[in-house]
Amino acid sequence: MGPAMNAPKNPKTFHIKSYGCQMNVYDGERMAELLGAQGMTAAEAGEADLVVLNTCHIREKATEKVYSEIGRLRKHGEPMIAVAGCVAQAEGEEIARRAKVDVVVGPQAYHNLPELVSQAAAGTLALDTDMPAIAKFGALPSRRKVAPSAFLTVQEGCDKFCTYCVVPYTRGAEVSRPFAAIVDEAKSLVDAGAKEITLLGQNVNAWNDDAGTGLHGLILALDRIEGLKRIRYTTSHPNDMTQGLIDAHRDIEKLMPFLHLPVQHGSDRVLKAMNRSHSRDSYLRIIERVREARPDIALSGDFIVGFPGETDAEFEELLSLVDETAYAQAYSFKYSPRPGTPAAEMDGAIPAELMDERLQRLQAALNRDQAAFNAATAGRSCEVLLERPGKLPGQLIGKSPWLQSVHLMTDAQIGDMVEVDIVRADPNSLAGVERVKAAA
Ligand code: 5AD
Ligand code: SF4
Repeated sequence: MGPAMNAPKNPKTFHIKSYGCQMNVYDGERMAELLGAQGMTAAEAGEADLVVLNTCHIREKATEKVYSEIGRLRKHGEPMIAVAGCVAQAEGEEIARRAKVDVVVGPQAYHNLPELVSQAAAGTLALDTDMPAIAKFGALPSRRKVAPSAFLTVQEGCDKFCTYCVVPYTRGAEVSRPFAAIVDEAKSLVDAGAKEITLLGQNVNAWNDDAGTGLHGLILALDRIEGLKRIRYTTSHPNDMTQGLIDAHRDIEKLMPFLHLPVQHGSDRVLKAMNRSHSRDSYLRIIERVREARPDIALSGDFIVGFPGETDAEFEELLSLVDETAYAQAYSFKYSPRPGTPAAEMDGAIPAELMDERLQRLQAALNRDQAAFNAATAGRSCEVLLERPGKLPGQLIGKSPWLQSVHLMTDAQIGDMVEVDIVRADPNSLAGVERVKAAA
């Protein structure tokens, strides 16, 4: 490996920049805790001795952002640069060939970050993209100080191999963390100030243990933690949506009425080509059962337009599925061919213009449904967990049970739960007036 000539010998300050999904946010927090435990302190990007780019590889644009960020950092100074996350896993040494970096560390190996940083400080490119199943969690320091709404990774990886997706290659096979380790971490998050915990996994509802507890059993255990007010989980796969988990939405009060259940498409031909292993109908039936269990549930999804060979008629089927489901919010993407995935070899690329037009039509439909969902909340009252300051003095922003942002004027503190009358609905947020303080 070539020497990293200009890297500071022993970085004292660090800055972590996370891209992409919520699991990267979680990993970024754990890396910060790890570096903090080594005596390093957090600093602004421009001032840090070590910059960690915690990267995303899901779509082309996400990857390109990383390379331009490295270029920017190199222009303005000579920090030690560590590339972590899924680009590190997918591209490995290739990154060091394309850009000047000091450390490359995959998402399953970041517990070795301090060692890799020392190695880089000694002048060698430090690379670790090993994938020991969930070994990292045992090697990370415990949770100390967290936001009112905290993430907790319970499951990683994916065995589904959708034909467009890099996740099975970057995050590895589906692995569940042990029950006891999760419950312990949840307790320490609550001790550290968390009121809400979002359980994370690429296929979070595939979480299980040898006893066959299932995600609903895990949620039931977390339900008993005193001081924990809200439980969420994301992202789920339709095939792992068990009746137990659906029933949990009816039975467990702390489990919030929100479900992110990506369908990706509405045409059976495209779903098959995507290797989704569910049909349009089987997906819609799951939604029906979820709504039976929890009629007010807010549904969220992911969609891909412009998959190879997508015809006009097939795209219309996607729109009709969206109409039928009426999502409360959603994410939609243009198909992006990823190297090494089966879909990247498929014929029938959709021209850029048509891709844009389809995305716009889909997003117009999704925006319409989101605005309607928000409008239906106006005039109701709900609990809001206050999470951050608003723009105005005395204003705080929090989340409704349905994951909408709610802003209000209040004397309450960040981390408090307050009862709020929703007085106005905007397309992307709600305005509220505080009612009575809920018991802390
Ligand atoms: N192109 C476009 N979107 C993709 N996603 C995953 N892979 C691709 C790709 N190659 C989307 C899916 C997934 C979300 C996280 O990203 O909709 O659910
Ligand atoms: Fe990717 Fe499909 Fe696995 Fe989701 S289920 S992470 S889209 S392969």
